[in-house]
Amino acid sequence: MKKREIISVLTDYNSSAELENIYEELINNAKKAAEKAYAPYSKFKVGSAVLLENGIIIQGNNQENAAYPSGLCAERVAIFYANAQYPDKSIKAIAVAAFTDNGFTKDPIPPCGSCLQVMLESEKRSNTSIKVFLYGQNKITSAESIKQFLPVNFNSEMLL
Ligand code: THU
Repeated sequence: MKKREIISVLTDYNSSAELENIYEELINNAKKAAEKAYAPYSKFKVGSAVLLENGIIIQGNNQENAAYPSGLCAERVAIFYANAQYPDKSIKAIAVAAFTDNGFTKDPIPPCGSCLQVMLESEKRSNTSIKVFLYGQNKITSAESIKQFLPVNFNSEMLL
């Protein structure tokens, strides 16, 4: 028997002012997107913003449905739209923010497992790392790659 310890590296910032301007702008786009979410059932409005290699920023937000499973998370709305419009442009970074009746969440919201899996596919597809910025009023949590959140993952290499 051999145990393996898996270490993920995350960085917390006190404010977006500590980040490069482009990432601060990306977070502001995610916050703007959150306020436009369609979340009448959960009232949990999530916004996401994706930065492409050509500098374009794409916003997405959660789109809910009376038939609950038909809805989609903010991150996947943004990523699928980016991939549909710019299939040959890699994704450099993604920001996420969540807004409730009490305003933006105090702590950052980690993406769900399905969204992480889709982000991982984008990394594999373009063979680049995607930086992650999760906004909370108290702190912003950042990672250099989706792999920090999904260190053990199923991916295209396993289909070979
Ligand atoms: N949601 C997202 O948009 N992104 C996440 O990473 C987690 C959850 C949405 C799905 C649903 O519309 C609402 O938040 C409550 O789960």
